[in-house]
Order: sequence, then structure tokens, then C-alpha cells
Amino acid sequence: MCGIVGYTGYREAYPIVIKGLKRLEYRGYDSTGVALLNGGLKVYKKKGRVAELEETLVGKDLHSHTGIGHTRWATHGEPSDRNAHPHSSASGKLAMIHNGIIENYAQLKQELTKKGYTFKSDTDSEVLLNFIEDIKENNHCDLEEAVRVALKRVTGAYVILLLDDSKPDTIIAARKGSPLVIGIGKGEHFLGSDASPMLEYTKEVVYVNDYELAIITPDQLILKNLGNEKITPFVTKLDMELAAIEKGGYEHFMLKEIFEQPSTIYDCLRGRLDAAAGTITMAGVEKNIEAFKNAGRIIIVACGTSWHAGLVAEYIIEELCRIPVEVEYASEFRYRNPVINKGDIIIAVSQSGETADTLVAIEKAKEQGAVIFGVVNVVGSSIARISDGGAYTHAGPEIGVASTKAFTGQLVVLTMMALKIAKEKGTISQERYSNLLFELDAVPEKVEALLKSADQIKLIAEKYKTAPSALFLGRGYNFPIALEGALKLKEISYIHAEGYPAAEMKHGPIALVDDQLPVVFVATKDAYHEKIVSNIQEIKARKGKVIAIVTEGDEVIPGLADDVYYVPHADEIMAPMLSVIPLQLLSYYVGVAKGVDVDKPRNLAKSVTVE
Ligand code: G6P
Repeated sequence: MCGIVGYTGYREAYPIVIKGLKRLEYRGYDSTGVALLNGGLKVYKKKGRVAELEETLVGKDLHSHTGIGHTRWATHGEPSDRNAHPHSSASGKLAMIHNGIIENYAQLKQELTKKGYTFKSDTDSEVLLNFIEDIKENNHCDLEEAVRVALKRVTGAYVILLLDDSKPDTIIAARKGSPLVIGIGKGEHFLGSDASPMLEYTKEVVYVNDYELAIITPDQLILKNLGNEKITPFVTKLDMELAAIEKGGYEHFMLKEIFEQPSTIYDCLRGRLDAAAGTITMAGVEKNIEAFKNAGRIIIVACGTSWHAGLVAEYIIEELCRIPVEVEYASEFRYRNPVINKGDIIIAVSQSGETADTLVAIEKAKEQGAVIFGVVNVVGSSIARISDGGAYTHAGPEIGVASTKAFTGQLVVLTMMALKIAKEKGTISQERYSNLLFELDAVPEKVEALLKSADQIKLIAEKYKTAPSALFLGRGYNFPIALEGALKLKEISYIHAEGYPAAEMKHGPIALVDDQLPVVFVATKDAYHEKIVSNIQEIKARKGKVIAIVTEGDEVIPGLADDVYYVPHADEIMAPMLSVIPLQLLSYYVGVAKGVDVDKPRNLAKSVTVE
């Protein structure tokens, strides 16, 4: 959701900004633009893709050493050229890009309108820019001071980057609630919503915190709080290579990320799980072990796919640790005045670590005294930083909008946590604990094995790609996987799909079943196997088309289903890590067969930084 890029230094700014914007395309956007400083401000913006903007700029004089760029995901005002960022101020002397939402923009707009301001766009961002300019002119102050004064009046979330035509090599930046990374070079600085735009130039970065303002020139980075006090920038070394954000021979990032799962799961286990020694090492859990052991309740907050990982964790933690678990949509939790008792632990699950709803939900719970534990993929992200403890999923950068490898990483981390807590709490037998450790250790190999028959899913996808809707059913640990399978199909192929607990299907969705409806059963061998066989019979009796994900060696379901995909045998606790993969592949192949831009499906954003 909205990507921002900036550069000031000795190189040409435009190519760096454009390349940076392309790296941020994965976040999801509908229009784009750049502003360059070169003896005045030049602003170019357009609805559509970055490549389209680039085409329209061929032959123009784009020479500049300071520039900013933006990909916009529309909130206030439709996707259009005029609503695209950067916005220019009323005088034309300032340009600004913004990621976030200014909640009190209507009030500010009213004040400015009374003063005679008119607006070229429908955006909250242009209002903020003119508000800043108004302060600058009335107070006869510099841009930095005007930004500081303005931000004290603003409610909402933002990262803003500003250019001032009287300061040819300076970018002013500020953040609250949306991500901002500054890359430090020699005689140059880079800015981005994440580190990907600056990866080939520098590994030294500063993660800007909320309520901080940065004044950036080629040779200097000054960080201040809104009280105008200087803050020493905390420089972090990036542990990420360029190859991690490139396609590496795959047609799409999504496919690459699905196929990376044997190694990302292995990376997640590495250095933590030692099955032979019977140990799990997780510093974040160890630091908070007393809190976990004594927790009256665990509340998992998350959104989207991460919420589904939370649902699987609910089953696992309750089973192994005997701690009551609730799984909440962060967007509901943050507004519904939930009861949080002393001793409750909140686990925030998030790939990006920047999802606005999840971030605010944990901030609120923290204020009420809850211990916050983050299960996050992006190192140094906001959720990781405000958590009291945490465990990274180590899945590497996930570029495809639909979460795949991050999801299996979340399952692995949450399973390891449950095992560790259960062991410390004494709620698991030594034998079961030891078995599960070996089971977990074997997951990367099993994922590798099942991916070998990915082509079978391609054939299934061909067969069902024209279906208008689909049903996904599962029980127990596989129920959240049915939800995830349905979500993936919706996101990537635009086919309407619903996920349901297999037995609950009788209370409604069964009315949809006819000889056209594909029904995907996630039916690996577990305690519910016989029950789910009956559910399959119920669908077949109504002529539904059954696609079944089953365990190798299953002798019953293949005789009933129209299409079958086998996954290796695993303990039911580990089964979701395997059974989700054919569903990821199914959505991918259907999406590709339908001509969908699977890495950037319409309307979706990778990192949802507005509520
Ligand atoms: C967006 C993404 C999903 C993701 C969800 C939560 O909707 O498209 O793939 O699951 O946000 O994001 P998070 O980064 O918090 O896991």
C-alpha cells in the first residue's frame, strides 16, 4: 500500500527513484509519480503502472540529484492522474508524497478553503501539503519548522517526504504509523517504505520512529523529534541480499516464493530446533517464559492470511499448552473495548510488521498492560519494534501480494513456540514432545517432496479455471487451511470462494452444491478422517465436484474424489504446513490461466498501512 522512495546525492536521482518504485510495486498501487529538483520543481504523475509513467517521460530532461517518487493506493479520491502523488503546493514551490491517512483533513481543508485555497485533487495529502505551506508563509519559517508545527495538528498516520524548490539538495521526511527507512551512503542518502529500493547501494539503514522528523542532504542526516530536539540515528546493518528480491528465473514472485518454502521453513528452524537433543531455542520465548507459563489467556491478533496462521495456532496451543486462546481480527479488536486481564499475552502475527490495524491493536493492548509478542517476518518493522518479545519467521522478503512462504513460516514459529511452552509448563509428555520435534524437523524435506508433483495441480487448475465459485472445506487443524485456500483463490484468480468447517457446510453452503461446483476438501489423515469422508459423500450425493488433498496411502478418499493431490504423511499438528501448499499452487495456476497479474492482483496491497 503506497510506496515511497527518495534520493539525494551525487548520482542521477530519476533512475534510482524509478527503480525503487518498481521494487515497491509489490505493495499494491494504482497510480504513480515523481518530483525532481533541478533549478525548480518538476512533477510528473500518472494513473497506472510505473512503466507507463516511464514511457511518457522518454525524451524529457530529467536531470536531477534530488528526487522523490510514489506509488499510490487510492483512499481519498479515485485512482487518476490528478489524485496521484507527488502533489504540488498552491504556490508550486513545494512537492510532497504521503503514505497514510490524515483523519482530520476535512477540518483542515475547511480552514484552508476559508483562506482562499483551492485544491487540484480529492486527496487528504494535498490538504496537508497546503496546510504546511500556509504555516510556512504565515509564520515566515523554514519548511522544517512548518512541518513540525503542522504535524502537531494532524491526526492519522503518515510518512511524508517533501521537496522545497529553494533547497535544491534537501528532503524533509516525517513519520507516524507508516514505515520509513533511510539508507546511508557516502555523499548520498536513500529513502524508502522498506529497504528494497536501496539494497544495491548500501547496507546501512536507519529505521525512523513515530513522531520523528528527518532533514536529509547528500552529506547529512539530521533526526529530530517534534519538539525540535536532535536524536542520534540508530544505524542498523541490513542482512539481505539483492537476489532475495529478484525473481531468480521464475515467471512470478508468487511461484518463486511457493517453491522457496523447503528452504524458508528450514531457515526458520535453523539454530532453533535440535530434535536429537530435544531442544528448541527461542530467545524471545525464553525471555517471557514465566509470562507464557502463567498466562491466563493468549489473544492472537492479526489480519488476512496471518489471521489464519493464528487460527491454526489456537488449535495447537490449546492442545499442547492447555492455555485458552482467542484469535481476533485486529481491526475488530482495536475498536471493541476488549477485556484484557493482567497476565494475558497478546501475540501479533504479521508478515510485514506494518499492518496498521495490527499495530494499533497491540499499542492499545500494551497500554492496558498486556505482554506483546510479535511473530513477524520483516526485520526491524514497527510491530517487531514495539513488541516486548518476539520471533522472526525468517522467510526472507515476500514480494507476491498473496502471502505464501511467510504463512508457512508463521505456522512453524507458532508450532515451535507451543512446543517450547508446553515442555516448560509440563503439559506434554516427553514422548509426544520428542516425536513432534522430529516431525517438525522433517517438514522441509516433505515440502520439497510434495512440490515435485506441482504439475498435477496445474492440470486440476486447467479443469476448474472457469468455475464461477468454489467451496473449501476442512476440519480440525485443516479448517483454517480451508479458509486460507479460499482466500488465496479469491485474491489470485478472482473466483468467489468460501472456506468452511466441513461439518458446518450442512448449515448453509450445501445449498450451493450442484454438478458445477468444485469443492476442495483438505482431508489429510487425522483424527477426523472418517468424519470428513462422510462430508465428501454428502457432496458427492449432490453431484458436486470434489478435489481432495489427501495423505499418501489414503485408500478411501481417492475412490470418491474427482481429483486428488497427495501430500506426505505427517502428524496432524504439522499437516497444515503441507496441505496449504497445493492450495497456494491451485490459486496460482488458476490465476495464471485466467491471465491475472498474480503478483499484483487488482485492488490488493501487500502491506496495508491504512486502517
Ligand atoms: C494484506 C496482504 C495479505 C496479508 C494481510 C496481513 O491483505 O495482501 O497477504 O495476509 O495484509 O498482512 P501482514 O503483513 O500483517 O501479515
